[in-house]
Amino acid sequence: MSRFAGQRAIVTAAGGGIARTIAEQLHREGAAVFAGDVDTKGLSSLPDGIAHQRCDVSNRVEVDAFFDAALAHLGGVDILINAAGIKGPTGVIEDTDPEAWAACVAVNLTGAYHCLRRVLGPMKAKGSGSIINFSSTGGLYGYPERSPYCAAKWAIIGLTKTAAAEAGPFGVRVNALCPGSVEGDRMDRVIADEALTTGKSVDQIRDDYVKDTSMRCFVTAEDISEMALFLCSKAGARISGQAISVDGHTSML
Ligand SMILES: NC(=O)c1ccc[n+]([C@@H]2O[C@H](COP(=O)([O-])OP(=O)(O)OC[C@H]3O[C@@H](n4cnc5c(N)ncnc54)[C@H](O)[C@@H]3O)[C@@H](O)[C@H]2O)c1
Repeated sequence: MSRFAGQRAIVTAAGGGIARTIAEQLHREGAAVFAGDVDTKGLSSLPDGIAHQRCDVSNRVEVDAFFDAALAHLGGVDILINAAGIKGPTGVIEDTDPEAWAACVAVNLTGAYHCLRRVLGPMKAKGSGSIINFSSTGGLYGYPERSPYCAAKWAIIGLTKTAAAEAGPFGVRVNALCPGSVEGDRMDRVIADEALTTGKSVDQIRDDYVKDTSMRCFVTAEDISEMALFLCSKAGARISGQAISVDGHTSML
């Protein structure tokens, strides 16, 4: 399939997790992909043909070097998958370490801004482009003991709507994805940390997450990737400024 033939995509956090699945699918479907991550081992194991460079999105100098290299390598950009995010600390607000708060916001919110600002100019000048920012169901509800993560992910939606309003007149679309609980390492770590602070068992906590959804499920990285590619494809040509959940319908929060 070559739905993205001729398209140039930059994908952050593509060394592992959801963004890796998206980078691989974009590559399979014909896009030229440039990937970044702090995990250089993860980047090195990407399929041949996906170019990559280390990029910590919270470090503006590193982000600028990464985007300089990506834009030069690809000769421009049509798609940004702005995916880097960390789960941040687990604990009630009064016990949250201010440094852990700052680190969480630096990656999830300021990091997304660092990357966004580097593609908006080229995309507006070209008159087209699609950007996917990563929020979360945590950006639509409050989750106890995840205050910096939820605050940053709510802010991502405000950033997305503002960027969409600014860039829309230039033919550039900006949307946010709100994944629910995604099968994989990340949710395993979230659940393990919650088990420590609440005293509940891992199985109980997992069951609580499942019960939050009307479809009684976790979602997969492939579910998120399919929606990201739909939004970036011609099928999404009139969709912008939206925060779209792929979460099995969170109905109990
Ligand atoms: N997994 C979930 O259940 C879930 C749910 C909702 C939203 N999200 C969001 O989706 C996005 C991807 O999540 P995931 O589950 O794939 O994450 P993950 O924890 O599996 O990490 C994916 C990659 O991000 C990289 N990374 C971490 N810090 C980075 C930084 N500072 N700069 C660049 N790369 C960095 C890691 O090295 C890793 O390879 C994140 O924004 C996350 O908040 C995830």
